[in-house]
Amino acid sequence: MIPDDKLRAQLPHTLRQIDLPALGELYRGKVRDNYARGDEIVMVTTDRISAFDHVLGTIPFKGEVLSRLTAFWFEKVKDLAPTHVVDLPDPSVMVVKRAKPLPIEIVIRGYITGSLWRDYQAGKAGAYGIEWPKGLRKDQRFDRPIITPSTKAEYGKHDEPISEQEILAQGLVSKDLWREATAVAERLFQRGQEWARSRGLILVDTKYEMGTIDGKLVVIDEIHTPDSSRYWVADGYEDRFAKGAEQEMLDKENIRQWLIKEHGFSGHGTPPALSDDVRVMLARKYIEVFERLTGETFASDVGSVEERIQRNLRAKGYLG
Ligand SMILES: Nc1ncnc2c1ncn2[C@@H]1O[C@H](COP(=O)(O)OP(=O)(O)OP(=O)(O)O)[C@@H](O)[C@H]1O
Ligand SMILES: [Mg+2]
Repeated sequence: MIPDDKLRAQLPHTLRQIDLPALGELYRGKVRDNYARGDEIVMVTTDRISAFDHVLGTIPFKGEVLSRLTAFWFEKVKDLAPTHVVDLPDPSVMVVKRAKPLPIEIVIRGYITGSLWRDYQAGKAGAYGIEWPKGLRKDQRFDRPIITPSTKAEYGKHDEPISEQEILAQGLVSKDLWREATAVAERLFQRGQEWARSRGLILVDTKYEMGTIDGKLVVIDEIHTPDSSRYWVADGYEDRFAKGAEQEMLDKENIRQWLIKEHGFSGHGTPPALSDDVRVMLARKYIEVFERLTGETFASDVGSVEERIQRNLRAKGYLG
């Protein structure tokens, strides 16, 4: 594990955004700066962190961790479905095939926790059109993973839960494509859970984005990262569950908890500034997931991420 003083030294060099108009047309998401040209997109994963749909600041090495983890996972699942990856010119950059995104995010859950738990408890989990079993407890494992789709809202709007019936009734996705997409999600999730388990982690839930290229289904965006997924430490899960204790989380839930507990912020009003201590703590969590999942020691140099990306893109011919 990179020592804390190195994480701290990287604080001023994190990547907030990158302006490279020569790469094409910019679409700035909450986390990625995406440059589209022709049938490809250069996706730069910045060090931005978002929670409750607000961008809060940057975390040392986060973009690199997410991009490298996505590459790692795409390699692990490439027999299950085609993915959008074309090239990895820099540890924070993925060149991908441009797809027509489905307007639905496929969330799949192995356990009841987070927002679903809160909705279930409040009797408000009806929007998914699922008959929930009675008497579930927080963090309980489902007999089999359950898909809780959400709409992919336009920038600045919140994603909303939606049922399969609605998706099909509104024709948001055709029936055949939906069948295929959910089947792919189930296979990806099973592979993800198995691998995570072999590395001492529980892949609790995750979100897939899929699209089509020439009518064919492709997995796009990021996959099984700690931004798009929940990870718990497997060791001690049963004990903590039996006692009703919090699970040991290695994902974005840490920032949500910090915002709620330390600042009473859960998405309304102006988010608090992240302290350097919390930025370093979060960097450690991201790197810990990376190291656990890949079995590699995360190594990266302190210094400007932007300059490194420019150098690599120039060397590989993406920038003149
Ligand atoms: N292969 C692809 N083709 C087209 N779009 C893609 C592809 N892969 C990812 N995307 C889109 O690129 C964007 C990635 O940026 P980012 O993850 O920062 O966005 P986000 O904040 O999650 O979503 P939003 O679009 O709501 O801002 C997402 O909108 C994602 O759906
Ligand atoms: Mg995203």
